[in-house]
Amino acid sequence: MKNSNSLHQLKDDGFVSISYPPELRAAVLETVKSWKNFCALPNNIKTQFPYNPNNGMGVGYELKTTPGLSHDLKEDLHVTTGMSDWLRQSAEQTGDPIITALISQAEYLINLMKPLVINFAKQVETEFSIKDFADEVENSQDAWFLRFLHFFGNRKAGDELATSHADKSGFTLHLYESDPGLQCLTMDLTWVNMPVSPGETVIIPGMRLQYRSGNILKALFHRVVATDATATAGRFSMVCFVHLSRTPEYDKKNAGRLQEFPPGFNYTMPFEEFKKLFVPVIEK
Ligand SMILES: [Fe+2]
Repeated sequence: MKNSNSLHQLKDDGFVSISYPPELRAAVLETVKSWKNFCALPNNIKTQFPYNPNNGMGVGYELKTTPGLSHDLKEDLHVTTGMSDWLRQSAEQTGDPIITALISQAEYLINLMKPLVINFAKQVETEFSIKDFADEVENSQDAWFLRFLHFFGNRKAGDELATSHADKSGFTLHLYESDPGLQCLTMDLTWVNMPVSPGETVIIPGMRLQYRSGNILKALFHRVVATDATATAGRFSMVCFVHLSRTPEYDKKNAGRLQEFPPGFNYTMPFEEFKKLFVPVIEK
């Protein structure tokens, strides 16, 4: 795990890379293999696995094939352990073993990630004096949100496969990227390639951590640009959004989609302004 100097990268560079324990890396690769098998299924099988909006924390499968303003062309699958029963039942109803295997591997992976996520949260809590942060992260585990992505080919090199945005999460682990093309916007507003390596996960703060840290850490703007290879062949990735269930949430309904903000708008915004983009969490 990181020492305090490298953790300080989170503030200065906007991200930090952490080595995977071997068992976790193996599980990531196995799960990605299952996701690729899922994507290779015919559309009429995949779409039998439904999408459940679940109060804005949607889980299940989505196929997005209609181009539109900053709507990415992709298919994705969202899994949380809090929605485990619904996900398992929905997978079983499709009767397809590839789908049931993927759901159980995804749940296994979320549980396996727990020590790394909690350890990281403890270090962030200490380094940036964020009171009870690790406890909040641990208590939000049901809502940690594993997202599988497949961007389609048939694009041009240089196209934005994923439009520039900051994540609404507490923080995001980039667990797997099949190819280069993930870029982030530095604090001085320059787009740079992010280090994507098979042995490490890149962690970036989202909007809720910017709020929770009182503007010390910034939600990192990032995007995915097509390379010569991915423009033709497409691109696979897997991320995990770690939510903070007690921290106010980004008010998408009133403030709009983060893809529509100028990249890096939040880097210099005073906290008094930034706070207005959030609404308190309603206890359920
Ligand atoms: Fe993102």
